[in-house]
Amino acid sequence: MSPHRSRARDRHHPAIHLRPPANWINDPNGLVHHRGHYHVFFQYNPQAPTHERVHWGHYRSADLVRWQRQPIALTPTPGRPDADGCFSGNAVSHRGKIIAFYSTHRADRWWQPVAAADSDPSGTVFTKRPELLVSRPPQGVTTFRDPYVWREGEHWNMIVGAGFGDGRAAALLYTSHDLASWTYRGPLHSRSDAADGLPTGDAWECPQLATYADGGLLLVTSAWYRHSGPGHTVGWAGARDGTGHHFDAPRRLDHGPDFYAPALLHAPDGRWLLWGWSREARDDAWTLEAGWAGLLTLPREVSLTPDGRVQQAPARELAALRSGPPSRTVRTVAPGESAVLAELDSVAEVYVELAFDGAPVCGLRLNTSPDNSEYLGFAVRYGEVQVDRSRSAHDPRAHGGAYSLPLPGAVPGGNCRLRILIDRSVAEVFTDAGEALTLRFYPGHDAPWSLTAHGLGGDCVRLGTEAHALRPPEGDER
Ligand code: FRU
Repeated sequence: MSPHRSRARDRHHPAIHLRPPANWINDPNGLVHHRGHYHVFFQYNPQAPTHERVHWGHYRSADLVRWQRQPIALTPTPGRPDADGCFSGNAVSHRGKIIAFYSTHRADRWWQPVAAADSDPSGTVFTKRPELLVSRPPQGVTTFRDPYVWREGEHWNMIVGAGFGDGRAAALLYTSHDLASWTYRGPLHSRSDAADGLPTGDAWECPQLATYADGGLLLVTSAWYRHSGPGHTVGWAGARDGTGHHFDAPRRLDHGPDFYAPALLHAPDGRWLLWGWSREARDDAWTLEAGWAGLLTLPREVSLTPDGRVQQAPARELAALRSGPPSRTVRTVAPGESAVLAELDSVAEVYVELAFDGAPVCGLRLNTSPDNSEYLGFAVRYGEVQVDRSRSAHDPRAHGGAYSLPLPGAVPGGNCRLRILIDRSVAEVFTDAGEALTLRFYPGHDAPWSLTAHGLGGDCVRLGTEAHALRPPEGDER
């Protein structure tokens, strides 16, 4: 069976989220704008839907809307430091080529030395440099991978994700004048998982840094645990002064269970864009049967508020995916009542504005079966929305769980807005305060789907809805 046929018949395979037709993907890598194109690389096993011997797959786009598939950029070389995997890293566009920085994996060592590869002028074909850039981690380090390189004035900085034997996770800072020889400067930032507040992991994977024009910084880390592997993602607002880089308290970057290893891209217009890896939330046996695993989230614009909150919203370019006229409704639901807000395609975007007469309580359901017994639930109440997937699939191989997203506008007499993007087996939910939640769900039925509202509290709720079907553009090679 060709991968294309399997994709067409698989109701869970995404239509507008980046991933190849078959096999395994994980982290976005090497995100860079180079000579008129956005380049997105990603961890990719072209042989099987399992995390083994990962390569760098590659897409590019001039507009973030129409994507072209590119040849595999990096392949593990037998007998070399990357024999068992070209692990994660980033890239810069410098002197007419893309330079990719990546982690070299071998099953017989625990750390992943940093290597580099240079592209041809078009950014398509890569040549690996023979020398490693950093071959061994500093003293006391017990995990070490995932370089992220950026320019600062006349020199280059690199951070590498790490964990120390004393329990601290860290982003280790290196500097260079020529991108070839690197000097270790100590941790750019570190924290113990046992510190008060949000847990942040035993080690950090894929540290990324956005530098804003007003001097603000955003450090993004993925919390990794020695005993359980990938956890959640964390954003740290910060600033730089004469004494170094300083970061505020950690905050959760995405509130869903299926978002990890996000990576940043600095767009030519100054925006910072972010893609994450959305892993599967179904049993491995089902993933093997489906023949594919993982997808990249839609690109998000990330910015910082003056009080250091991270705001995320889908990239504005995604409006070009809307097909046909929007459907709009205005409904009021009283306690105990239900109302249909929209008929939805399985690839769609919907805005729901909720205005509360009194108690900020309301249920929403994305119904994915004709008898409405299968649905993704949204329970809005006092300051949060719980997204519940425990009834979203009758198939017991799909994972359940309910996840809470802060919704500051859900106060008595208040109003708030949700923006929900769905693509067959993934939902990305954004609030008007710029918080995000990503999760996977596995409906057993094709569209049409519907969105309904349910009055739960003691007061009426007014709901204004705008829904769009989304479609990949002509010529798209996703
Ligand atoms: C994060 C990660 C990285 C590593 C890559 C391997 O998901 O574990 O730390 O470089 O995936 O595929």
